[in-house]
Amino acid sequence: MQRFAENLTFDNLFQYSYEDLMQGFPLKGKWHRDFFQNEGELVVEMGCGKGEYTVGLARKNPDKNYIGVDIKGARMWRGLKTAHEEGLKNVAFIRTRIELIPLFFAKNEVSQIWITFPDPQIRAIKEKKRLTSPRFLSRYSGFLKPDGVIHLKTDALLLYDYTMEVIEQGGHELLYANEDIYGSGLKSEVTAIQTFYEQKWLGYQTKIKYLKFRLNPDFVPEKLSYGKLK
Ligand SMILES: C[S@@+](CC[C@H](N)C(=O)[O-])C[C@H]1O[C@@H](n2cnc3c(N)ncnc32)[C@H](O)[C@@H]1O
Repeated sequence: MQRFAENLTFDNLFQYSYEDLMQGFPLKGKWHRDFFQNEGELVVEMGCGKGEYTVGLARKNPDKNYIGVDIKGARMWRGLKTAHEEGLKNVAFIRTRIELIPLFFAKNEVSQIWITFPDPQIRAIKEKKRLTSPRFLSRYSGFLKPDGVIHLKTDALLLYDYTMEVIEQGGHELLYANEDIYGSGLKSEVTAIQTFYEQKWLGYQTKIKYLKFRLNPDFVPEKLSYGKLK
């Protein structure tokens, strides 16, 4: 409860009611000019939890801007609090369902998307809920730049294999794939920052997998509707 109350005091947290969002999000297409007040790239983390990537990358790259997205405000509080304590001006958070994310950004506004340890949604019936499904890629395609990049970091082989299939079937461009980032000796921002869930899975000796890809420029997005989410 205390975290929710403190969240209300952060001027870099955006949480809108469905009704208000339907009236239009005021920073859509204006994040650079009206919020960050710089021209640095915009990078968005989907399902950010406590925001380790959002905050960690913001620390490393002060010339870029980072936005964490999640529905769980109590988790996001951790990232908000750290960004506040460290005076990071290139960090913001949006509390929303990711299904609504196209309402927050304009065409070509975002350069990169990180998807960190999303729920794998194991049952086939839940396939559309996977954050790398064609339906979610359709959502991202509305605001990701044509040369924009999507990063997936996961413990789940099922989600890794599924995303590989989505990339292949959709004609997307696979830029990098690694089924065991720590075992392979990779050294980059992919291994330098570990999320809460990542540490949990590493504790069980699970191999951490990473994929990086670019959307097919001829990708035809699925038709999106927001009404059912009310
Ligand atoms: C397994 S946790 C991973 C959190 C963090 N990225 C990490 O690695 O520690 C998945 C996160 O995604 C969020 N999430 C899943 N589906 C979502 C959706 N449709 N909209 C918003 N948040 C979602 C959950 O609230 C949760 O915080």
